[in-house]
Amino acid sequence: MINKDAKIFVAGHRGLVGSAIFRLLKKEGYTNILTRTRENLDLLDDNKVKDFFQKEKPDYVFLAAAKVGGIVANAEKPADFIYENLKIETNVIHSSYLAGVKKLLFLGSSCIYPKLAKQPIKEEYLLSGYLEKSNMAYAVSKIAGIVMCQKYNEQYGTNFISAMPSNLYGPGDNFNLKNSHVLPALIRRFYEAKEKGRDSVELWGTGTPKREFIYIDDLAKACLFLMNNYNDSEIINIGVGEDISIKELAETIKEEIGYTGEIRWDTSKPDGTPRKLLDVSKLKDQGWESSITLDEGVKKTYEWFLENKDNIRG
Ligand SMILES: NC(=O)c1ccc[n+]([C@@H]2O[C@H](COP(=O)([O-])OP(=O)(O)OC[C@H]3O[C@@H](n4cnc5c(N)ncnc54)[C@H](OP(=O)(O)O)[C@@H]3O)[C@@H](O)[C@H]2O)c1
Repeated sequence: MINKDAKIFVAGHRGLVGSAIFRLLKKEGYTNILTRTRENLDLLDDNKVKDFFQKEKPDYVFLAAAKVGGIVANAEKPADFIYENLKIETNVIHSSYLAGVKKLLFLGSSCIYPKLAKQPIKEEYLLSGYLEKSNMAYAVSKIAGIVMCQKYNEQYGTNFISAMPSNLYGPGDNFNLKNSHVLPALIRRFYEAKEKGRDSVELWGTGTPKREFIYIDDLAKACLFLMNNYNDSEIINIGVGEDISIKELAETIKEEIGYTGEIRWDTSKPDGTPRKLLDVSKLKDQGWESSITLDEGVKKTYEWFLENKDNIRG
């Protein structure tokens, strides 16, 4: 178990995941949390990262800093995605090893799994088939991070673990329509349609693909649980264990926002992978399960959006 006064570095503490981990650590009474903004420590800078770790010598590291984005951003800047993520990972993981960090948690993503993986997706399906092309650069960089953690454990005896969350959402999410994920994008679209009195909202595809969503505070709890209890090089999925169609998700959000117009599905647009559900039995066997329902999570996220809509990032 992490001592309450252990020095814990949360890399990416202003992001969706990092800010939730930071909030949880504070709430749980951890007193020595270390953070740096990008302006103070650019994780792309090898020497600065190495110096930072040597000087601060953190005991634990949550690696939640990454270049993250939706389909459009991944399509437009694939080189940036692979370059920045590989660089952040090599800098933080290698410097953690050099500085004697006791344990590091690396965050990957469900896109590391093969495009046509059997559902629900078990951890062992990693590298068993071809990846989805649209975010391959990002996925390959995340796989490299996983393998780095495993190989540092093997060669240097470190304790670097890797967790693969399903789709995340919650307060602090990116609501910029240019590069946001589906759930915050739907909140924004329905909110704007309601405000502007539009008769309908047009959404891409048929609405039949199914996706799994985990609320960000649940994810943070899972990360802290793993930091305290999981000591294996093999990756571990974090999810809720059930999925929902995009159509059902859109209806849930529409209702929460109170938009009364119509949803039109533009079926000429692509649907993407039909289903993406993580098998979370390994995490359950370890003793952790999510507790926030999608309805509750959407409600809290919408409340946050209303309070912060004039100040959201992107
Ligand atoms: N969001 C999801 O649905 C999802 C799902 C599965 C897995 N994940 C994983 O969770 C992790 C975090 O994702 P997120 O959604 O929290 O992303 P996010 O909200 O975009 O946050 C990323 C954080 O990383 C920081 N960062 C990026 N480049 C940096 C650099 N060069 N130097 C210093 N800081 C840098 C950003 O700093 P600034 O604040 O300065 O930009 C930001 O605070 C990623 O590894 C991602 O793969 C996310």
